[in-house]
Amino acid sequence: MNEAEELTVLTLEKKANFVETPYIQGVAGRALDYIGAGYPIHFSGPAGTGKTALAMHVAAQLGRQVILIHGDDEFGSSDLIGGQTGYRSTKVVDNYIHSVLKQEESVSKQWGDNRLTTACKYGFTLIYDEFTRSRPEANNVLLSILEERLLELPDARSGDGYLQVHPHFSAIFTSNPEEYAGVHKTQDALMDRMITIKVGHHDYETEVAITQAKSGLPWRQSKSIVDIVREFRKLGVNNGRPTIRACIMLGRIVANRKGTVAASDPTFRQLCHDVLNADCLKVTHDGQVAGLERLDEIIARCCPPLPALVPVAGDKKAASDSRRAGSAVNLVAEIG
Ligand SMILES: Nc1ncnc2c1ncn2[C@@H]1O[C@H](COP(=O)(O)OP(=O)(O)O)[C@@H](O)[C@H]1O
Ligand SMILES: [Mg+2]
Repeated sequence: MNEAEELTVLTLEKKANFVETPYIQGVAGRALDYIGAGYPIHFSGPAGTGKTALAMHVAAQLGRQVILIHGDDEFGSSDLIGGQTGYRSTKVVDNYIHSVLKQEESVSKQWGDNRLTTACKYGFTLIYDEFTRSRPEANNVLLSILEERLLELPDARSGDGYLQVHPHFSAIFTSNPEEYAGVHKTQDALMDRMITIKVGHHDYETEVAITQAKSGLPWRQSKSIVDIVREFRKLGVNNGRPTIRACIMLGRIVANRKGTVAASDPTFRQLCHDVLNADCLKVTHDGQVAGLERLDEIIARCCPPLPALVPVAGDKKAASDSRRAGSAVNLVAEIG
């Protein structure tokens, strides 16, 4: 690779804590199928539905190096394909016959490839995350790449103005159709060239597994956290929020301070209030903000009481003895 390819190229590997439940395998499998047949794919869904994680996971499975671009309102097409980076001046001094001095000076325009051109040239996988944040004019260059597999380049770049896209080039897009701030409507022509896979919130099993994998908490506590977040989400006041990110935050903070997930624990209740505060504001009752009360009810409903001591099965005598003695001998914690 030359100087133009000093751009960041990622080598992605399957992440150890990436959760693959049947739901995830299903979505990823469809995506790989369509890419295999030569089509770009587009994960479309609300925030926190795992679009970026899925794009990375699918890209890792393709086994090619990855170029990652984040959509940006400020982008022009040169931010994608490259542009003129300056001028190069060369000077040749010929004094073969020492009494004669011949000088030649030439100035040529310098072109620097940008990430999209590099991906097309070497057959990398492009992940264009949140591509609707870029203006449609900037994304126009994608039309011929995806359809004719030709990248049209300005004259300033040496060559014939076209670059044949490498056969291994593939593209994965993500976007959030519910985002209302800082996004642009996409041209139909571009949408028409990709296969859009709608993703929604993960199913219950997947959310618990992700919370567990990302926090390291036991399954039981991860489940209670997911129960709280899902119950709160069901109130339906805030565009599908709180998302899996809230579950991961709660789980990680509890794990980090070796805390408990219990309604009777004021520190845990406070943590829930802090993490879910922004979503609480939209819950009202008789015109009053009632989010925190609703949240407290939900925590009480979803969290099992602190580990209760119950007799070991089949050891009734020991249990009744110990009850009389008020001791915890032969008792085990019900909840791990
Ligand atoms: N299958 C998965 N396994 C592990 N973590 C996941 C998985 N899907 C999503 N996550 C985690 O959930 C959070 C939100 O996912 P992300 O892909 O960023 O969502 P989006 O791009 O839709 O907003 C991130 O922390 C991400 O790492
Ligand atoms: Mg994302």
